[in-house]
Amino acid sequence: MNIVSVVGARPQFIKLKPVHESLNASGISHNIVHTGQHYDPNMSDVFFDGLDLPSPTYNLEVGSLSHGAQTGSMITSLETLFTENRPDLVLLYGDTNSTLAGAISASKMGILIGHIEAGLRSHNRSMPEEINRIVTDHVSDLLFAPTNLAQNNLIREGLKAKTILTGDVMADLIFSSIPKLVDRIPNSFDESENSYVVATIHRASNTDDKAQLERIFSSLSTLAEKVYLIAHPRLISMAQLHNIQIDKKTINVVEPQPYLDMLAYIQGAKALITDSGGLQKEAYLLGVPCITIRTETEWPETLAGNMNVLSPTASNLNELMEREVISQTIQPFGAGNAAQSITKAILELLN
Ligand code: UD1
Repeated sequence: MNIVSVVGARPQFIKLKPVHESLNASGISHNIVHTGQHYDPNMSDVFFDGLDLPSPTYNLEVGSLSHGAQTGSMITSLETLFTENRPDLVLLYGDTNSTLAGAISASKMGILIGHIEAGLRSHNRSMPEEINRIVTDHVSDLLFAPTNLAQNNLIREGLKAKTILTGDVMADLIFSSIPKLVDRIPNSFDESENSYVVATIHRASNTDDKAQLERIFSSLSTLAEKVYLIAHPRLISMAQLHNIQIDKKTINVVEPQPYLDMLAYIQGAKALITDSGGLQKEAYLLGVPCITIRTETEWPETLAGNMNVLSPTASNLNELMEREVISQTIQPFGAGNAAQSITKAILELLN
C-alpha cells in the first residue's frame, strides 16, 4: 500500500505529524511530498526537525508565485510524480494552494483522495482558502470531518456517503504536546513580562489592504499590554510595501516560531489576536481568550462563551480585551485520536 501526503504550508506540517505517526504504526508505506509553497527555514525545516518528521521524499520547490502560477506549477509537477510512482491514495490537508493542486492532479488521474480537515466553511468565497476547500471536498473519496459542524456542512452539500467524523488531528498533536510546555520559554521571550498579548496577522484580506493594515496596527499599539507580534513573511513584505511601521514601542516583532514555542507563547498570554485559522483553535484548547480579525470563522465552535470573538476592523480591541469570557469544558475537536480513525478508514477502503 503506497500512501502519499501532499503538504506545502506551515499548518500542514503540523497536521501531518499525527497522521504520519499513525500510518507508520500500522505498517503503511507513507511518502511525503513537499510542494515548496513555504520554503523559509523558519516556515518549513523547523517543523520537520522540531516535530521529528522525516525529510520529504520529494520537494517540488515551487516557491512564491501568483495563485494561478503557484497552483499550476504544483499540478504539473505532481502529475509527473504520480505518473512515475502512482500512489494508491493521496492525502491532502486543509485548504492551501498545495491542497488544491493535489486535489486536481490526483482526481484527474483517477487516484483516490482522502481530505483531512474536510467540511470547514467560512461561507466567504472571496477567500482563496474557501475555494480550495470546496473544490477539494467535492473531488475527494474520503472526507475526514474534524467536528460535527464540519460533518453537517458536508452532508448539506450532498457528501454524506464519503464523510467520516474523525475529530481534529491538530487536537491530537496539541493534547500530546501540552505536557512538553511546562517551563518552556521561547528564545525571543522576555521572562520579566507577566502580562502580554500574542498577535499574528497574515491573511491577504488584512495584509494586502493598506487602510485595513494601518487600522490593525494603530489599534494594536493602543493596548495596555505589551504585544508579541509573531510575524509571517507575508506581513513583513506587505508592511514594507505599504510603508507601515509594525515594530512600535509596545509591539515587539519576533520571527515565526517553532510549534512548541508558539504554543508556549499562547499558553502564557492574556489573549491572542489573530487572523489564522489554526491558532484560534489552539487558543481555545489552551483556554486562552482570542480575538479574530476577520468577518467570519470556519471554527465557530471556538465562539462559545466568548472564548473567541470576531473583530473585522480591529477597531474595538481594548473593549474586547475586557469582555467576560466563560471557560469551556466542552471538547468539540475530538478526544485526541483523529489520526487513528483516519488510518482505520484508509485501511478499510484499500484492503
Ligand atoms: C498560506 C495559505 C493559508 C495558511 C498560511 C499559513 C493559501 C492560499 N494560503 O498562506 O491558508 O493559513 O499559508 O502560513 O495557500 N513567504 C516567504 N517565505 C515562506 C513562505 C511565504 O517569504 O516560506 C512569503 C512570500 O512573499 C509569499 C507570501 O509569503 O508570496 C505568501 O505566501 P503563500 O504561501 O502564498 O500564502 P500564505 O499567506 O502563507
